[in-house]
Amino acid sequence: MIGIFDSGIGGLSVFKELSKLMPKESYVYFSDSLNCPYGPKKTDFIIDRSTKITYFLIEQGADIIVVACNTATAAAISYLRSNFDLPFVGMEPAIKPAVLHSKSGVVGVLATAGTLKGPLYLNTLAHFKGDVKVIERVGDGLVEAVEKADFDSKDVKKLLRNYIEPMLNQGADHIVLGCTHYPFLQRSIEEILDGRAEIVNPALAVAQQTLKLLKEQKAAPAKEQPFCKFYSSASFTEPIQIIIKSLTAAPCSFIDSFSI
Ligand code: DGL
Repeated sequence: MIGIFDSGIGGLSVFKELSKLMPKESYVYFSDSLNCPYGPKKTDFIIDRSTKITYFLIEQGADIIVVACNTATAAAISYLRSNFDLPFVGMEPAIKPAVLHSKSGVVGVLATAGTLKGPLYLNTLAHFKGDVKVIERVGDGLVEAVEKADFDSKDVKKLLRNYIEPMLNQGADHIVLGCTHYPFLQRSIEEILDGRAEIVNPALAVAQQTLKLLKEQKAAPAKEQPFCKFYSSASFTEPIQIIIKSLTAAPCSFIDSFSI
């Protein structure tokens, strides 16, 4: 059983890759939509929520936990790793491949405030940045839009344009999506990029790392019929449930207003 959590539904962009790569596994997902966004919240609050959610996912039978949230990873993953005895896979903005592949020497990173000030991101940046110019931007308002299943309204496209256009004007040829909510906006982002830059999303690499850790952990693949349980501290709206069902062939159950 793979446990996944996020401040909201953003982690579903990671679930998408996980379930493509490991369709026979069962999943339990916790969306903390009641407390979303995590981005502007204090580190202690995020550690507290991540700890409670981790206990819950373990109770549900998780053998491994994917912290499908850059902000929670930045704030809490070292705490979780030192307080729980199971493997965690975290998310961080994929600055390394962006820097390595950049031809223009300019890269844009769109993420939350919490992620951009987190030690993981800052260390990776210091390690790989070299001479590359990295333009960071906090994507204010984008997480809230995705939570409302607004992926392509005029307002959300205007926000995206405000964040991304200045990166392109300075020559960015890679735009790193440093928040798991942002891949839901991929089509709107591509419209703005118009071929001028590539989108970098670490979700597939995270899924591959999860598979690697699972293989190290157990020899036999899952035997039971796979199933997926989705818990939310708020609710999974109809459009979101439709998206989720399109991501897996396994039966899905949805539990709303679940307080932890
Ligand atoms: N999906 C979360 C992340 O990757 C969203 C952050 C937030 O809740 O502000 O960082």
